Amino acid sequence: MLTRAAPIEPVGRRNPERTRKPGRLPHLAEIYTGGLDIEARRRKYRIDLETPRFLLRPLAAGDEDWLTDLFTDPEVNRFLWDQPETPEEARRTAEAIVQLDLMRGHFGHWAILDKTSGEVHGWTELSKLRPWWGPSDEIALSYVLGRASWGRGIATEAAGRLLRHAFEGARLDRVMAVIMAGNTASKHVLEKLGMRFVKNAKSAGGQQLQYFRIDAPPVAQPTAPE
Ligand SMILES: CC(C)(COP(=O)(O)OP(=O)(O)OC[C@H]1O[C@@H](n2cnc3c(N)ncnc32)[C@H](O)[C@@H]1OP(=O)(O)O)[C@@H](O)C(=O)NCCC(=O)NCCS
Repeated sequence: MLTRAAPIEPVGRRNPERTRKPGRLPHLAEIYTGGLDIEARRRKYRIDLETPRFLLRPLAAGDEDWLTDLFTDPEVNRFLWDQPETPEEARRTAEAIVQLDLMRGHFGHWAILDKTSGEVHGWTELSKLRPWWGPSDEIALSYVLGRASWGRGIATEAAGRLLRHAFEGARLDRVMAVIMAGNTASKHVLEKLGMRFVKNAKSAGGQQLQYFRIDAPPVAQPTAPE
């Protein structure tokens, strides 16, 4: 298990509002979550986070537009998997990401908003590491910014805050990251965050990947009174 001394909380309790009534089709969220109280989890874990310059907030309806813009920029997509090939595909991908994110209780995408201007720079994400090769239950950190936002330390500041949330809020004992070989900017971000290179690997599609990892900082033990 990845969670570290996580407080045990009741799970599986049904939200009465979502209990299936005769003649009512289950809401998509019920199917996806098995009826768990996803809203309670979202309130606890999908919280707004702040850095000196940015507000990080979970994706919300309406974010499809700027996400579509990101997915249609080939430079932004150069080192990403599953690049949409047409504007329509980019739009569908953006819509699917928002829809799924709204149902995710612990992890997901956080939009990076400029505190001063309100401008959206992109997102940073904590998600299950995709099993590029074999099963995996790791959680991975990633980030994607619009081109105009590159080179200003934004990814490091935003992802660093989400990483802290992974340890302090979600109580993970480690976080992974996977980049495509050659993504120098992303590698620099990971190094600046204190993540260390773990291994090279190849995706099923033949792409060269590099895995990084960071462990949770040790928890300070209370000292016994003299
Ligand atoms: C990767 C990405 C998020 C970096 O965002 P950013 O806000 O520009 O990153 P930061 O400014 O915090 O740090 C980038 C570091 O890499 C360096 N860097 C940037 N481009 C570089 C390049 N082509 N070669 C070498 N170093 C580079 C920067 O100088 C900086 O290091 P420094 O602080 O020591 O000067 C951004 O380029 C991006 O969105 N790319 C497209 C999506 C993507 O590939 N995401 C990662 C998927 S794993």
